[in-house]
Amino acid sequence: MDYECITTRIEGDKVAIITLNRPKQLNALNNQLMDELGHALQAFDADSAIGCMVITGSEKAFAAGADITAMATLTFAEAYRGDFITRNWETIRSVRKPVIAAVSGFALGGGCELAMMCDFIIASDTAKFGQPEIKLGVIPGAGGTQRLPRAVGKAKAMDMALTGRMMDAVEAERAGLVSRVVPYDKLMDEVLGAALMICGFSQIATMATKETVNRAFESGLSDGLMFERRLFHALFATADQKEGMDAFVNKRRAEFRNA
Ligand code: CAA
Repeated sequence: MDYECITTRIEGDKVAIITLNRPKQLNALNNQLMDELGHALQAFDADSAIGCMVITGSEKAFAAGADITAMATLTFAEAYRGDFITRNWETIRSVRKPVIAAVSGFALGGGCELAMMCDFIIASDTAKFGQPEIKLGVIPGAGGTQRLPRAVGKAKAMDMALTGRMMDAVEAERAGLVSRVVPYDKLMDEVLGAALMICGFSQIATMATKETVNRAFESGLSDGLMFERRLFHALFATADQKEGMDAFVNKRRAEFRNA
C-alpha cells in the first residue's frame, strides 16, 4: 500500500516509526490517514523483525483532532452509518506489540484520543493535550470520555472535556497522562531509547505484559489478578524465561530468542 498521509521508517533494524503527515492540517485525522495507520501498524505487528512501534507527528502537532472540514456537514445518518470516525480505530487496539506515542505540540480531540490508544506517551515539553470537542458542539468520539478519566481521574477529565482547556506537558505528566517529558530536541532519542530497550527483552513477555496491563482496564481486580497469574505461569513454558533467569543467576547478559 502506498501511503499519502503517513510516512514510515525503521530505526535500529527493530523499531518502526510511523509519522503522521498532513502538515497543512496539523495532522488532522481523516479516514484515509486512519486506514493507512491501521495498515502500517498491522504490517509491522506481523513483521517478526519489528519489536516496537512508535507513532509521532510534527514538532507543531501530533494531531489536532479529527478533520473538522471532513465532518462539518455530516448528517447523523452519515455519521452513524459510516461509524464516523472510529470505524477503523479498532485495528490499533488489536496490535499486540508495544506502541509508543511520541507527542510534540498539539494532541487535541482525536489526536489526544489516538495518543491515549497507544501503550504509553512520551511527550516533549511543548506538548498540549485537550478534548476541545465541546467548542464544536459535540463530545469526544474516539474514546476521550472513557480513556481520559481512566488516565487522569474524573476531576481533570471533566474539567478538560467541559471547558475544552488544554493541559500542558508538565500538568499531563503530573496527572499521569504521559510517562515522561523531555525537551523537544531530545524527544525522538528518548523514545527510541525506550523502544530499543523493549526490543531487547523477550517479545513473548512484552506482548504478555501489554495484554495483562490492558486487562486492568477491562476487568475487576480478581479477574485481572487471575489473568495475570495464568500468563505469569504460562511464561515458564518459554525458552526466554529459562534464558532470562539463567542469565541472572550466572551474572551474564540474557540473549532472548522470542521462543
Ligand atoms: N481539522 C481540520 N483542519 C484543522 C484542524 C482540524 N482538527 N486543526 C487545524 N486545522 C487546520 C486549520 O484549519 C488551518 O488550516 P488553514 O491553514 O487552511 O486555515 C491549519 O490547520 C493550521 O491551523 P491554525 O491556523 O488554526 O493554527 P493555530 O496554530 O492558530 O491553532 C490549533 C492551532 C489550536 C490546534 C487550532 O488549529 C485548533 O483549534 N484546531 C482544532 C482543534 C479541535 O477542535 N480538535 C478537535 C476536533 S473534533 C474531534 O477530534 C472529534 C473526536 O473526538 C474524534
